Amino acid sequence: MARLLLIVFLGWLVGCGDAPPANEQTDASRKAVTGLKDVAPFPIGGAVSIRKLAGDTALRAIVTTEFSSLTSTNDMKMYSIAAREGQLDFARADSTVAFAEANGMRMFGHALVWHYGLPEYITSKDRAGMEAFLTEYIDTVVTHFRGRVDGWDVVNEVFDTRGGELRATPFYTAMGEDYIELAFRTAHAADPQAKLFINDFGTERDTSKLNALVDLVVRMRQTGVPIHGIGFQWHQQMRDDTAVIRQTLRRAAATGLLLHISELDLIFNTHNDAAGGGVEEISRMTPELLAAQADRYETLARIYRQEVPAPQRYGITFWDFTDRDTWIRGFFDMNDWPTLYDDDLQPKPAYDGFRRGLEER
Ligand code: G3I
Repeated sequence: MARLLLIVFLGWLVGCGDAPPANEQTDASRKAVTGLKDVAPFPIGGAVSIRKLAGDTALRAIVTTEFSSLTSTNDMKMYSIAAREGQLDFARADSTVAFAEANGMRMFGHALVWHYGLPEYITSKDRAGMEAFLTEYIDTVVTHFRGRVDGWDVVNEVFDTRGGELRATPFYTAMGEDYIELAFRTAHAADPQAKLFINDFGTERDTSKLNALVDLVVRMRQTGVPIHGIGFQWHQQMRDDTAVIRQTLRRAAATGLLLHISELDLIFNTHNDAAGGGVEEISRMTPELLAAQADRYETLARIYRQEVPAPQRYGITFWDFTDRDTWIRGFFDMNDWPTLYDDDLQPKPAYDGFRRGLEER
């Protein structure tokens, strides 16, 4: 019987391609375990690949126990959905949203407009072509998920890596700054309930970049552009100054907008923000380093709670929340241990530290 069930299950998995079992926790087991989501006064999220989830029971257990919000690492990006000209592919995005719904999680959409990895048929458009493409793409995607995706990173990384200049993306090259307003207005028209974010990295350590972002948001809001929130990626380094992090969050909170820590991880080594640009000064973990990381995660949770008024807390989302899966190693070409779970998917001291930061009175 057990063998038959296993065969049926495997057959189902193969048949479903990317889709993992919908909801495999019983009510009793769900109540018995309390995860981060149960102790946090705001949503706690994780970024996932539906293909990885499908084949990995341990990863699914972490996701369903710990998180109340889900972001797709790559499957809702423009380069995934619009890879082929003239057709949109929602298969993996649909599976991810279905998984979130089956497990009672909020689905967050990442990202409608991002320059990375785009096919040439998009990057080569002129102003009129880009305007028409963006309008149709955003309208179709947001309409497709209307009422099921709670919020979107409408534009991602519109600023240069450092400083306050707008990035010369194909969108900017074709349309100038106008593409940002178009993106927000189109998304809002397609789903008036969805919370719409501008998301970027480095804004917690580069105050020129933060100032430019806040100025842009305030200016656009004054002309009625429907921007509801700011996403801080928070791909952080242990050496970052927590006083600056606190100050930047406080400044963003003063806008009154929702604040989402959208891609949190915390690395030991350093890099120059470019692919392959890692400097591996630390090549092995020690109990002292793990404890320092735990302290830092605790502090970050506390800063978010202290600086962001409750109605503005859209939550904290972890990016590739296991050291096994972290994007940091591959992208910067160095070893590192930036997440809450180790290579064997066991919780690290970082997990306890972050949890302490959520729970403390
Ligand atoms: O799935 C293919 C695999 O079939 C192929 O063999 C392999 C060879 O390169 O590539 C695999 O795809 C990779 C994919 O990650 C899945 O691992 C892509 O090459 C790689 O470009 C992609 O990287 C993602 C990156 O965004 C670019 O989209 C990372 O997983 C993802 O963590 C990262 O996420 C970004 C956020 O969206 C925006 N903020 C920064 C953050 C980190 O870079």
